Amino acid sequence: MANREGVTMLVGSLREDSVNRAAAKQAAQHLGHDFTIHQPDLSQIPLFDQDLEHAGDPEAVLALKVAVAESAVVICFTPEYNYSTSGVLKNAIDWLSRPFRSGSLIGRVVAIASATPGSKGGENAREHLLQTCGVLTDRLYSVTLGIPNVTQLDEGALPDHAADLLPPWLDGLITFHRSIPDLAHTDQT
Ligand SMILES: Cc1cc2nc3c(=O)[nH]c(=O)nc-3n(C[C@H](O)[C@H](O)[C@H](O)COP(=O)(O)O)c2cc1C
Repeated sequence: MANREGVTMLVGSLREDSVNRAAAKQAAQHLGHDFTIHQPDLSQIPLFDQDLEHAGDPEAVLALKVAVAESAVVICFTPEYNYSTSGVLKNAIDWLSRPFRSGSLIGRVVAIASATPGSKGGENAREHLLQTCGVLTDRLYSVTLGIPNVTQLDEGALPDHAADLLPPWLDGLITFHRSIPDLAHTDQT
């Protein structure tokens, strides 16, 4: 459908049975009626290297940047690894942060969620990511979503106690997005 706003899901886990991938999939289903969903493949993004960057963004990085450019909202679903976010996600964000002070996340609402088997819903990962994203966008959604106690999926889906957390948070995120004036369409005269 033409002229629909985009939402990009960045999933910081590469494993097939990832609970964060499942959460992103269910978020995409919730938002898919109103938004065009982009789910770039982070497995093909090379480790950030300024020499590679100088030679020209690799294909997977270009695809990532196009997805984000076509999106008003970017949602990060991060596992917590050793009290922080995943290297996969941080690496993708490092590419998106370039060029310095003109990165792809500027002007985009960025939101952060984390699903974990533990009881804290990745609070350290979310906190670290808030810090990182806070310097890369002027539209950070400061209300992060922790999805705790997800020990296994039910036929590929989050169990109900976890799935139920997504819609209210996503609806709050979209309300936040819609509350921000679209400067491109604001009469500046
Ligand atoms: C290397 C590694 C480090 C981890 N460190 C943490 C941690 O610090 N805190 C936590 O709650 N879970 C930790 N976990 C457990 C992950 O939260 C769990 O494996 C989760 O399912 C990963 O997300 P995914 O299912 O989306 O892949 C760790 C897992 C791995 C593999």
